[in-house]
Parts: sequence; C-alpha cells; structure tokens
Amino acid sequence: MEKKIDRKSNNSSYHYSQIIIHWFVALLVIYQFTFGGNIKFLEIESCIHSKTNALESCQHLNNHYLVGVIILLLMIIRLFLRILFGAPPLPKSIPLTIKIFARLSHYLIYLILFSMPFLGMYMYYFNSEISQFLHITFSKILLFLILLHICAVAFHEGVLGSKLFYRMASISKEGDK
Ligand code: HEM
Ligand code: HEM
Repeated sequence: MEKKIDRKSNNSSYHYSQIIIHWFVALLVIYQFTFGGNIKFLEIESCIHSKTNALESCQHLNNHYLVGVIILLLMIIRLFLRILFGAPPLPKSIPLTIKIFARLSHYLIYLILFSMPFLGMYMYYFNSEISQFLHITFSKILLFLILLHICAVAFHEGVLGSKLFYRMASISKEGDK
C-alpha cells in the first residue's frame, strides 16, 4: 500500500512512530517466545484461583498475559498508524513477486499478532484446548515468519543491495542525509 497522506517524515523510511512500535513489539514478541514455554496449560486454573500465585509458572503466566495485552494494544495503534502513514514504496529494482510475497507475509504477521492475544485469553478464561492448540500452532507459524523476515532483510541488504533495514531504522526527519 502506498503512502496515504503526506505526513511521513520522508519517502524512504517508515514514520518514526511506526519504527519505534516495530522495535518495541519485536522485543515483546521475543520475550513471549523466551518465556512462553515456561507456562503450563494444566496449571492455569490453579493460578487463577490461587490467592498467592506462588508457583513460578503462575508468575510467568501473569507476565505473559500482561505482555500479550500490551502487544495487542500496540498492534491496534500500529494498524492505525499503518493506515494513516502507509509504507514507503519499495525500490523499483525489487521484482513484483517478491513485493507481493513480502506484503503477504507482513499481513500474516499482523493477523497472527492480533489473534494470539485473543486465543490466549480464551484459553485462559475458558480452559479451551482448541485455543491452546491454535495458540501454540500460531506461535510456531509466527516464529517461522519472523525467521523468514530476518533472512529476507539480510538477503535484501547483503545480496540484492536494496537498503531495506534503513526503512525500519531511520527516525531522522531529514531523510537519507
Ligand atoms: C501476541 C501475544 C502473544 C504471543 C506472541 C504469545 C506467544 C506464546 C508462545 C511462544 C507460547 C509457547 C508455545 C509453546 O509452548 O510452544 C505461548 C504459550 C501460552 N500462551 Fe501466549 N502469547 C501471546 C499472548 C497470550 C495471552 C494474552 C495469553 C493469556 C493469558 C496467553 C496465554 C498462553 C498460555 C496459557 C500458554 C501456554 C500454552 C501451553 O503450553 O499449554 N498468551 N504463548
Ligand atoms: C521479532 C519480531 C518482529 C516482528 C513481529 C516484525 C514485524 C514486521 C512487520 C509486520 C513489518 C511490516 C511493517 C508494515 O509494513 O507495516 C516489518 C517490517 C520490517 N522489519 Fe520487522 N519484525 C520483527 C523483527 C525484525 C528484525 C529482527 C529485523 C531486522 C533484521 C526487522 C526488520 C524489518 C525491516 C527492515 C522492515 C521494513 C521492510 C520493508 O520496508 O518492507 N524486523 N516487520
């Protein structure tokens, strides 16, 4: 999607608010993956009803819940910013098929990051095994997409020579100076 309105700081990188949220969400997602494995589905009920939350896995669950909700809120803001500011046009040298593929994978990341908190909460409140299955399956798809995402950026930078990293790293209002 091209730039929607002329409020972006320049034409070659994302708006600085999009950049800040991208990296903040990336950190939070890494946190979810690092500690998500410590949560035990079977202990959710006892964690909810326990007054002390003494189990270490309950503390992991609480943090995971909180971080998941923060990710959801940031994704809502991010979607709003994406609609408002759009994305800078990709270099013309990049083949159309790669552009389409990149866009699809970005949309899929958005979709997964929106659905995972809801699946998590549904699993939490309704002890739903289907949600548990979907939450875990989506986390694996997300991990794959993120690894692909990092490899794609490295490939663009190192092999194709298209300066993509800059698009998500420059918060200068002056553009490529
Ligand atoms: C975008 C936000 C979220 C991400 C990226 C995320 C990611 C993950 C990951 C990577 C795991 C480990 C999966 C595995 O064991 O292979 C996990 C497990 C889990 N998540 Fe989330 N999560 C998110 C939001 C939430 C929310 C809001 C809740 C609500 C409480 C939640 C509840 C759980 C539970 C209960 C498990 C343990 C499932 C099990 O192993 O049986 N998650 N999550
Ligand atoms: C770890 C979690 C990460 C997630 C969930 C994530 C997600 C995303 C999404 C959804 C976009 C599309 C933005 C949009 O058009 O609205 C994007 C763009 C981008 N990301 Fe990430 N990202 C992550 C990590 C990284 C890392 C580690 C790098 C560095 C290698 C990176 C570099 C970039 C770059 C350069 C772009 C801009 C690509 C372009 O201009 O088309 N991301 N990211």
